[in-house]
Amino acid sequence: MPTILVTGATGNVGREVIAALRQRGRAGEITAATQNVERARGQLGNDLSYVKLDFAHAASFTPALAGVEKLFLVRPPQISDVAHSIVPFLHAAKAADVRQVVFLSLIGVDKNRIVPHAKIEDAMREVDIPWTMLRPSFFMQNLDTTHRDEIRDGDEIFVPAGEGRTSFIDVRDIGAVGALALAEAGHDYKAYELTGAEALTYGEVAMIMSEVLGRLIVYRKPSLLAFAARWNARGHPLDFIGVMAGIYTTARLGLAARLTDELPKLLGRPPISLRQYVQDYRETWKR
Ligand SMILES: NC(=O)c1ccc[n+]([C@@H]2O[C@H](COP(=O)([O-])OP(=O)(O)OC[C@H]3O[C@@H](n4cnc5c(N)ncnc54)[C@H](OP(=O)(O)O)[C@@H]3O)[C@@H](O)[C@H]2O)c1
Repeated sequence: MPTILVTGATGNVGREVIAALRQRGRAGEITAATQNVERARGQLGNDLSYVKLDFAHAASFTPALAGVEKLFLVRPPQISDVAHSIVPFLHAAKAADVRQVVFLSLIGVDKNRIVPHAKIEDAMREVDIPWTMLRPSFFMQNLDTTHRDEIRDGDEIFVPAGEGRTSFIDVRDIGAVGALALAEAGHDYKAYELTGAEALTYGEVAMIMSEVLGRLIVYRKPSLLAFAARWNARGHPLDFIGVMAGIYTTARLGLAARLTDELPKLLGRPPISLRQYVQDYRETWKR
């Protein structure tokens, strides 16, 4: 049976692509790529196949790509040197006769050439495997991953985004679009800019969280310096803090607020709202 190889399978989006393919009855076609097969099997279940893949080790590419027809490609946030990891992986995919790549890119990538996703999109055009670019906005799920602890334990959202608005998207919606692009024809050579239905300030996010969780969550609106100092004190590397600072500065400047209607057009339903997301994940922030 032709294989759909899902990279980043244990991550936020890959997991949801797998869930959506499963809902379509396609679990038998999925191979989940991971650095640690046993851990991934524990997380994702026994109805999938697994293969070891490490973008930092080219020797893992050809075995992982054997028999693969379609590829869901995630650039792990830990990997910035894509020229020596993801780009050679794409060449290996071409050599392995992969017929379609759906890539998890980034909204605004066409105007922001310094992000690694731009280099990957260029490489995808160059190797010319029929491609689909998913270009999502900022994930709602950053609130239950990166910012979970300060919300759960401190009842606060601590990001330097000022009064800027963000067009948050739920990764479950990205997973649904990924599965659609992989499972149905008609998505080759298309780039989809995906956002939620509303652009919210973090003050509004805190209000929604307060209402749903039944306790006061405060948006602290820290300066860039205060934000950097806190993450530095937690021992995070400067380049990581720099990337986060850049993301929240973009939001503060009002550049993360753009809304598109591509997601409802593709899925035939509205995007998941932030209120729904908080309701569905409420256990995450319970003390
Ligand atoms: N967060 C946002 O708001 C946002 C918005 C737009 C776009 N994006 C983009 O989305 C991507 C991240 O997606 P995500 O949040 O789903 O990822 P994630 O949850 O951080 O997961 C990363 C995945 O990459 C795998 N991985 C890590 N190192 C690897 C390596 N050396 N070789 C192979 N696989 C490796 C990990 O799996 P194993 O450990 O099992 O191998 C994991 O499944 C990034 O490119 C980011 O820029 C993020």
